[in-house]
Amino acid sequence: MSKDSTESLASPFLQTCDIPVQQLKIKPFTLVIFGGTGDLSKRKLLPTLFSIFRAGELPKEFAILGIARSKMTDEQYRDLIKKALQESGEEPLEESTWTDFSHHLFYLSADSGKDESFPSLYKKMDKLTGQIARDCRNVIYYLALSPRMAPVVIEGLKKNDLCRGAFDTKIIVEKPFGRDRRSAVELNRILTDAFEESQIYRIDHYLGKDTVQNIMFFRFSNNIFEQLWNRHYIDSVQITVAEALGIENRGAYYEQAGAIRDMVQNHILQLIGMIAMEPPVGFEADYIRDEKLKVFLAFQPFSEGDIDQFTVRGQYGPGKVNGKDVQGYREEEGVAPDSNTSTFFAGRFHIANWRWAGVPFYIRTGKRLAKRITEIAIQFKQPPLRLFGRSCDTLDPNILLLTIQPEEKICLRFGVKYPHSENQIHAVNMVFSYQETFKMRYYNPYERLLIDCLKGDLTLFVREDAIEAMWHIVDPIVARWESTPPDHFPNYEAWTWGPEEANLLLERDGRRWITT
Ligand SMILES: NC(=O)c1ccc[n+]([C@@H]2O[C@H](COP(=O)([O-])OP(=O)(O)OC[C@H]3O[C@@H](n4cnc5c(N)ncnc54)[C@H](OP(=O)(O)O)[C@@H]3O)[C@@H](O)[C@H]2O)c1
Repeated sequence: MSKDSTESLASPFLQTCDIPVQQLKIKPFTLVIFGGTGDLSKRKLLPTLFSIFRAGELPKEFAILGIARSKMTDEQYRDLIKKALQESGEEPLEESTWTDFSHHLFYLSADSGKDESFPSLYKKMDKLTGQIARDCRNVIYYLALSPRMAPVVIEGLKKNDLCRGAFDTKIIVEKPFGRDRRSAVELNRILTDAFEESQIYRIDHYLGKDTVQNIMFFRFSNNIFEQLWNRHYIDSVQITVAEALGIENRGAYYEQAGAIRDMVQNHILQLIGMIAMEPPVGFEADYIRDEKLKVFLAFQPFSEGDIDQFTVRGQYGPGKVNGKDVQGYREEEGVAPDSNTSTFFAGRFHIANWRWAGVPFYIRTGKRLAKRITEIAIQFKQPPLRLFGRSCDTLDPNILLLTIQPEEKICLRFGVKYPHSENQIHAVNMVFSYQETFKMRYYNPYERLLIDCLKGDLTLFVREDAIEAMWHIVDPIVARWESTPPDHFPNYEAWTWGPEEANLLLERDGRRWITT
């Protein structure tokens, strides 16, 4: 193996060992960020690009072009980004690394809503791509501006012939991808009119988390679990995505989104896709995306009566923890004092296919819940016979817990004989911790996703049909909730586990929520 290929293989972003080394290399590129001065760019994208650069993952030749309306020179843009990196980084900024990185940063002041901006963009891109490498026509557009601007930018790129032909392009589209199925279909139409599906990277940062990807690795590389992964052995599946934080100055956004659009339609359904999918025929993007799509299509549709019975909505009120008062949702900045936006969702779903028929999938998510945790609990069925007598039978079924944040771990819960007892069973946990085993530093999910996009790997990005199918699942719930406003909001106190109805949802089925 050449020195060069050894270096590539040592990359912390290495995916699978059967990908040819040349595919692991990032070719020279120009990244054009629409909204290059915004919050996402300053807090996530540029710090991530800097971190990848510092890790030696970027090629020597690349350029990052930020676009926004504010007037600024390249030098002023570099100063802005330097300040953002200093504010976002845990370690002090290393001056020499920053100087090297800053030479790759450029800025264009242009209104992306105006036609005349695109010829200036072409000129700048032409100059930059020519400067960084003779044959480098790789351009990635990143839409990091308001979702309202996305169609305008895409149409501007198309009208000015900047999607195909002159450059080899890709486009990264941020969430939210539409507000409902209809608007998502329309955005997809505009996108696919301008770009091929293979050029489109719809980002869901949850998919960039190692522990989320590990769901597939865990399932399909461990025969012992995959044998049990079906309705014969699994009693139910629970997903909890709980945040202790409130809406943190994002009132205007959250009022429009609410818990379903913010978390369920994208992140939580993607998690279910990975848990419930069939083994793909290969580890390539479309094979995996095909299998996830089949899961979304198999969701049992809800009638209005089902929605009333099997979903729970909530909104946090004020609360107190450790003597500290926090305000309720309706008192947050940018929120209407009589807002009916839900900050909590719980629901019971069924996937009507051969593997999962009859297995309930319970999900809950919310703001200002008791703690920050994202966890998947697979609850197994009880053994067929209670050999140890009813009185001392285990209350705890076998549970497999996949914890995604804040700690990344896998825990298997099983019963053992309690020492010196006659026949008492005690539940114990066998725990694997990513941090303890691999002593790895925390990777921000954007690192993995940006690297994958630069390499042209679509596996962790969401395909057009999946986006539409996911909206198809949640649209009826949003519509039902909107047509029957709640009269009991706020209905949970900050830093609790949400409204009591969420507990009843499981208790009715003889189950309870599981958390570590
Ligand atoms: N912030 C996050 O943590 C986060 C997380 C996930 C997804 N997102 C998504 O990422 C996108 C950007 O969010 P954000 O929070 O970064 O928004 P933001 O802070 O409001 O930034 C918007 C950016 O767009 C630029 N812009 C606005 N109108 C423009 C125009 N007509 N032409 C050119 N540039 C224009 C702004 O600069 P000028 O005003 O100078 O033009 C600014 O650079 C949204 O789709 C959001 O949903 C954000």
